[in-house]
Amino acid sequence: MKHAEKLIGRIIFLEGSPTVSQLNSIHIGSSVPVQFKNDCAAETDAVKSYNEGIKLASDLADNGTRELLESILKDEENHLDWIETQLDQIDQMAIQNYLVEQVD
Ligand SMILES: [Fe+2]
Repeated sequence: MKHAEKLIGRIIFLEGSPTVSQLNSIHIGSSVPVQFKNDCAAETDAVKSYNEGIKLASDLADNGTRELLESILKDEENHLDWIETQLDQIDQMAIQNYLVEQVD
């Protein structure tokens, strides 16, 4: 929610009205690999959206919004990297061994 709070703060600062009633649907998944793959798709979409927002903010010379979106983009890229690492580990060590590694 920290990203949402920052975005809402920025929208209010710009004297807009944030819409918080239209959320993207959440795809959870029936197993850990499916959950990670769904998360990976969501993070990929987020990275694409933030990049589009950064381009728009740059075009409009709105550097405050651009800087905010750039900081959130870095977080999302880190999330995506972490998820890809988990999927890689599952691929290399099989799901059973991966899950054992998580319990300690
Ligand atoms: Fe994320």
